[in-house]
Amino acid sequence: MDRLTEERIINEVKENNEIVSVIAEYVNLKQQGKNFIGLCPFHNEKTPSFTVSREKQLFHCFGCGAGGDVLTFIMRKENLTFGPALRLLAERANINLPEFQLPPDQQKVKEERERLYRINAYAAAFYRKILWETKTGAKAVAYLEARGISRPTAEKFSLGYAPPQWKALVGLFRKKGVSLQEAEKAGLVCGGGEGFYDRFRDRLLFPITNPRGQIIGFGGRILGEGQPKYLNSPETVLFQKGRYLYGLKEAREGIRRQGRVIVVEGYMDVIQAHQQGVEEVVASLGTSLTVDQVRLLKRHSEQVIIAYDADAAGAAATIRGLDLLAQAGVGVRVVRLPAGEDPDSLLKREGAAAFRRYVGESVDLFTFKLAYILENEDLTTPAGKARAAQRIFPILDQVQNGIVRETYLRQTAAALGVSEATIYDQWRIYLYNSRKNKQRLDIKNNQRHTNDIADEHHGDATRAENNLFQLERQLLRGCLQEKEFFARIKRTLKEIKFSAPLHTRLFQQFVEWDVSGEWPPPATAFPPETRVLYTELLTENEMNPLPVDLEGCLRRLRQYQLTAEIHRLQQEVAAGLEEEAKATTPSPELQGKLALLNQLHKKLREEFPTFSGLT
Ligand code: UTP
Ligand code: MN
Repeated sequence: MDRLTEERIINEVKENNEIVSVIAEYVNLKQQGKNFIGLCPFHNEKTPSFTVSREKQLFHCFGCGAGGDVLTFIMRKENLTFGPALRLLAERANINLPEFQLPPDQQKVKEERERLYRINAYAAAFYRKILWETKTGAKAVAYLEARGISRPTAEKFSLGYAPPQWKALVGLFRKKGVSLQEAEKAGLVCGGGEGFYDRFRDRLLFPITNPRGQIIGFGGRILGEGQPKYLNSPETVLFQKGRYLYGLKEAREGIRRQGRVIVVEGYMDVIQAHQQGVEEVVASLGTSLTVDQVRLLKRHSEQVIIAYDADAAGAAATIRGLDLLAQAGVGVRVVRLPAGEDPDSLLKREGAAAFRRYVGESVDLFTFKLAYILENEDLTTPAGKARAAQRIFPILDQVQNGIVRETYLRQTAAALGVSEATIYDQWRIYLYNSRKNKQRLDIKNNQRHTNDIADEHHGDATRAENNLFQLERQLLRGCLQEKEFFARIKRTLKEIKFSAPLHTRLFQQFVEWDVSGEWPPPATAFPPETRVLYTELLTENEMNPLPVDLEGCLRRLRQYQLTAEIHRLQQEVAAGLEEEAKATTPSPELQGKLALLNQLHKKLREEFPTFSGLT
């Protein structure tokens, strides 16, 4: 489809979806003057800062900065990309969209996936019917009852029961003309050439959905004891373990309301939690979180609380998953459940209030790791204490904030029953040895992270990144306010670069668009990846029309860049000095770096005489 047609369609869809009426389906809006206001659906707030303008057909949240037009709103709220959001709104307004034509091979894949979703939905309906409406299902109904799951809860999660026969589903599919080859691709039947039979037999079935609610696979629990306890769908075109979170669709509203997400291990934990009104709960379907799951979690909340069984929580694989979360910049806390309990059993025995109390007493990741090590070493023997210290040091090493680290060091000394002086000595020895081993690696890493504001302690580093991020956003916003601003930024950015890749990309697209003359560019000039950012910026300008402080922003960006460069060099020089400790004079390379470092310091002093942020 050419750009003009696309633009025409987008306009038609927007004109027929009045923004206030669309958003009112999601947010309780009150009129205030010309605008409508309500509680922001994108962050947790108590006083409304979410504003919708009927006149401008835009929304903006003064709290979290979210903003855009009706399409952006649907994309964010329904978690959709541009195409599906457009389709949703077109359907709402009864507009026929011309099919967006995919290339033939992609079209074939898409059609196959749609067939598999339908087959899964069909099977789920069949299993549900067996559970509730047949004698065969009575056994599973009794099992649910024994586990304290009510019928409404079971129905909320579309639970079903696969009867014991080998060909119940196969028989149904044969009768209804559903392709068994495709049912095999969906992971519902096995056997292929040998003669098809049902994969799930005599099991309570938990349909697993994607965030849009389409069924991608199933988990099946044996009724009682036996192996395997849970039989899951095999990997299929739709279902890849580690890509999804169980219960996300049902939990979305609760996550938004509570401003956090609780991650548990199992199907039953999720269901029991929802039944008791703890609704911000999802399961990771396995013990260690994957990169994909981390991304998914981060999209929904910046605060993740882990509530795994005590033994699973401390497993090395689990910890790796939690580190992934922390690295992604998500706040991680770990609930310490009593030994032998999981959320399901605890909720059943002590109720939601007690469970929430445990959640309230969750600890940060370091404290959790420390406690775990202390519990698993024999602290009554000197060797056990030494081992514990050696396991704690590498974790301490990752704590960037000096004050926090010192607190933890004292905590460690107390826990091990040794003097603080001894712990500090050991810590320095540890550092010395580990630096020696790591310095080469560090230099490489540092070079890769030139753009990070290095060496600031953790909290500040994130804050610095946030500031940097905001600065860059303001500059991009400025580009759209005045063509002249854009030109000025373009000139300056020859020396200063954006740190966020998305910002760089959007700016590059500005530059490419610029040759056409029209300014600001239309939204259709941008591919989906940058379009959301672009509309957010436009909205911010609409709602907040004061010109950005261009020179101030550029100066601060310059300052960030200089200090980051200095920090990087400092680390290289420090590593170099240590490496060459025995040599009487530094190598020419190191001398060069030292000279450069001096120059940069001088520059910083000249350009920013009052700045004292460097240590
Ligand atoms: P658990 O063994 O802790 O089971 O496994 P559970 O959730 O407490 O189940 P109930 O309460 O005994 O019914 C946690 C999760 O690990 C996966 C499942 O997702 C399960 O919910 N699992 C476990 C499997 O996939 N297969 C298994 O055989 C066991
Ligand atoms: Mn359990």
